[in-house]
Amino acid sequence: MAVSIKSKAEIELMREAGRILAITHDELAKQVKPGMSTFDVDRIGEEIIRSYGCIPSFLNYNGYPASICVSINEEVVHGIPDKHRIIQDDDIVSLDAGVIYKGYHSDAARTLVMPAVSDEVKKLVEVTKQSFFEGIKQAVAGNHVIDISRAVQEYVESRGYSVVRDLVGHGVGSKLHEEPEVPNFVGMRRGAKLRPGMTIAVEPMINMGEYDVYWEDDDWTVVTEDGMPSAHYENTILITEGEPEILSRAEGIAL
Ligand code: MF3
Ligand code: CO
Repeated sequence: MAVSIKSKAEIELMREAGRILAITHDELAKQVKPGMSTFDVDRIGEEIIRSYGCIPSFLNYNGYPASICVSINEEVVHGIPDKHRIIQDDDIVSLDAGVIYKGYHSDAARTLVMPAVSDEVKKLVEVTKQSFFEGIKQAVAGNHVIDISRAVQEYVESRGYSVVRDLVGHGVGSKLHEEPEVPNFVGMRRGAKLRPGMTIAVEPMINMGEYDVYWEDDDWTVVTEDGMPSAHYENTILITEGEPEILSRAEGIAL
């Protein structure tokens, strides 16, 4: 299967999905506080998504049992919301969410910093976010996926952190996961050539320590082997004739 090129109409739907997703993340960032359970976070997130007439992309996706992935500290991604998992004041909390608007997905993640997080860990979160922006500088027509991958990896490793190898970004559209794969590290393949109308989710997952991860017994939660913290940042973007357009954003809301 080739990488799909979205029509103007499809892109318009993805803009709206992305706008609602950005609002959802912004609202979650305001509401998520120490003392809440990760289950509460999921309830709030799902309610916001549904209030816009959207469907949470992740709910029941390959059997995933919730709408928002909530991954704390050494959890990299895909943490399952849990009534007994209480957010602490020195936690970093990665929230990954997707929405479906009229059949089109948007996918984005943010890592929230609770009030007592150390400066050292805050730095990890900032570098992870910035690595996304370094990556998308290369997300221009004519480049290949590997140009994004290289930019993310070089930036992250120059700061002394490591890039998770076992999970990658992806195309997104009428399905949550489409071609091409978008690794955050340089591998053997240069990947797809970027063309206007491609929509991809760029999502660096960055570890403070080594890049190795494992899957917990729930078969979802991905955790760092060395127990050190990990951060995640993701947006859905559109390849254009010029600079990429971030689709998972809303006017008046900071990325
Ligand atoms: N947001 C994840 C990604 O970026 C997908 C989550 S899979 C789910 O690819 F099953 F947890 F929903
Ligand atoms: Co994604």
